[in-house]
Amino acid sequence: MTATATQGPVSVEQASAGAGGPPVRVTEPFTAVVFGATGDLTARKLVPALFRLSRGGYFVAPFAVVGVGRRDKDDARFRAELGDAVRTLAAVEGGADWDRFAGSVFYHRADFTAADGYAALARRLGEIESGRGKLGNRLYYMATDPDHVPAVVERLAGAGLFAPGTSTPWTRAVVEKPFGRDLASALALDRHLLRFLREDQLFRIDHYLGKETVQNLLAFRFGNGIFEPLFNRRYVDHVQITMAEGDGMTGRRGAWYDRAGALRDVAQNHLLQLLALVAMEPPASLGADDIRAEKVKVLRNLVPVREADVTRRVVRGQYGPGVVGGEPARGYRDEDGVAADSATETFVALRAEVDNWRWAGVPFLLRAGKRLPRRVTEVAVEFKRPPTGLFTAPVRGGGLCDRGCDCGPTCECCNAGGQPNALAFRLQPDEGISLSFAAKRPGMRLALGPVRMAFGYAGSFDGPVPEAYERLLLDALRGDPTLFLRSDEVAAAWAFVDPVLTAWRDGPPPLFPNYAAGTWGPAEAGHLAGGCRAVWREA
Ligand code: BG6
Repeated sequence: MTATATQGPVSVEQASAGAGGPPVRVTEPFTAVVFGATGDLTARKLVPALFRLSRGGYFVAPFAVVGVGRRDKDDARFRAELGDAVRTLAAVEGGADWDRFAGSVFYHRADFTAADGYAALARRLGEIESGRGKLGNRLYYMATDPDHVPAVVERLAGAGLFAPGTSTPWTRAVVEKPFGRDLASALALDRHLLRFLREDQLFRIDHYLGKETVQNLLAFRFGNGIFEPLFNRRYVDHVQITMAEGDGMTGRRGAWYDRAGALRDVAQNHLLQLLALVAMEPPASLGADDIRAEKVKVLRNLVPVREADVTRRVVRGQYGPGVVGGEPARGYRDEDGVAADSATETFVALRAEVDNWRWAGVPFLLRAGKRLPRRVTEVAVEFKRPPTGLFTAPVRGGGLCDRGCDCGPTCECCNAGGQPNALAFRLQPDEGISLSFAAKRPGMRLALGPVRMAFGYAGSFDGPVPEAYERLLLDALRGDPTLFLRSDEVAAAWAFVDPVLTAWRDGPPPLFPNYAAGTWGPAEAGHLAGGCRAVWREA
């Protein structure tokens, strides 16, 4: 069974503008200044996103993209390297589009950790802008090692490159996650940045919020009447959030990742943001503050993980050698830039609970890992089983239940009967939503089989799904903070994660590696929900 759009194809423009809404465009001239211009993020995400936005007609006025980096190169070489990277990503159909865009791309060599280079940067920006509308609107994107961000912002301010008191021209800074390393450092970073910037100039990015399917969580929940009444502890058994990656340490990631780990890298931000979107109450409006206020309430209502509970509620893992997608994969400790005795986790699974009227007692099971069997991100809401096991008589009274555990007559799995109903939001790949339920199998016996009703973006809407960074850059350039994090959200997420970091830091060292590359992580992750009550779905 397949759900298709009933109004015919929807263009990218209509989709991003919202039905009947005004076109979403950047109408003023601007300069996007990217610190960390020679890094992976710039070549793989930021420049391709700016290029697609420009090609799609989202920039109405002249613009410039200025990369700031330490390496020695000129504009021509920078453009050529980016052109190669963009072509590898298959973002360019015809060379002429790229050539037109590349004419607005510049490179400025500077050691941005040194204070004396900022006057030269100011001059260079002035020169570039003088032929392009000269408004001085600037977006400073921090694509650098997070450790450099405080100094870069301070020095930009020192050189008069932020305009804190005014909104014309506007100046904004985009800061990548993770925002800090723990609660204390996140608060200190915030205090530091807010000495030089106003809150409305500071865009804390979590690129998951820019994913079309993540935004669709809100659309699905609050734009339809049939499902939302089921989203509460009366009907929902538990929620599973999986972010699995087949890749290990790509590019030059190893050294940075080894100081971070999965909890800081993706759980504190991406996974908790997904949880907040699934669990939040309907916002008063779609305005930035109303949405963020509801998310922060959820994050503040997370039941704290006491240090004594860490082993029961959190499982960490690190991959050893194995096979991923048929190819041999080395273990984490053999990756470039990683310590040979590293105790950094490349996998984390945890059990969260939201202590409010809607969700009290409903487990939210979260997991993320590198070098898992495949790349898949999914949010699945599993509903409670029917109250009687009408269709599961053979397993009544004990024996193996349909979940494969030998759990006896009192087990909820056996007695409640049948496959659980599940609503799964597939964020990537194959973006879409599916509903699983039971149907009678054809034949003379009254036996049930699981079936799925599925909606896929690819089959239902026309045109490509915009990349997260396209949407977020467009919003930052327009000054719309809705899909960016407010400081209280960041703090609430760190407050939840902090005790786990402390327990890991102070406890005995982990026995790593404890899962082979190409498997679903350590076996203990399967028991997070307690007993056989809930096991991970096959994502
Ligand atoms: C980033 C993490 O935020 O998200 C990376 O730092 C991870 O470690 C990446 O690989 C995954 O993003 P996506 O969009 O490919 O799921």
